[in-house]
Amino acid sequence: MQRRTLIVSLFAATLLFAFGTAGAAGNIAAGKKKAAACEACHGANGNGAAPNYPALAGQYQDYMIQALHEYKDGQRTNAIMNGMAAPLTDQDIDDITAFFASLPSKLSSLHGKVQGAK
Ligand code: HEC
Repeated sequence: MQRRTLIVSLFAATLLFAFGTAGAAGNIAAGKKKAAACEACHGANGNGAAPNYPALAGQYQDYMIQALHEYKDGQRTNAIMNGMAAPLTDQDIDDITAFFASLPSKLSSLHGKVQGAK
């Protein structure tokens, strides 16, 4: 009986792992092209062109997907981002966020500096 419980648990853990990692949606190369419209503010390296533009590089993809859907459907209001997110399809959002998530984050080296500073 104990052995059976172990096998069932292992199976469940494998399923969890498989679905847990399936969150990495989107195509990075396609996202890089689509992100050209975002670079003026979020920076070509994704770390923000100025302190008032959030750094997206290395950010959790799930978080950015959520934020963009909220801007798109108006649950999160920001005059700029509501307009930027409006034309994006689900696929665009997956691709663009895959790209930004793949970029190296500068967050760990920000201490004592201003965001967006080179
Ligand atoms: C004209 C400047 C500008 C452009 C262009 C722009 N953004 Fe933004 N973005 C902002 C600002 C400002 C905020 C912060 C808004 C807020 O406080 O909700 C923001 C917020 C975000 C956030 C949420 C970040 C967080 O930490 O919560 C995401 C994700 C995002 N933008 C993605 C994009 C994508 C993808 C594009 C291109 C399709 C884009 N942005 C284009 C200015 C811009």
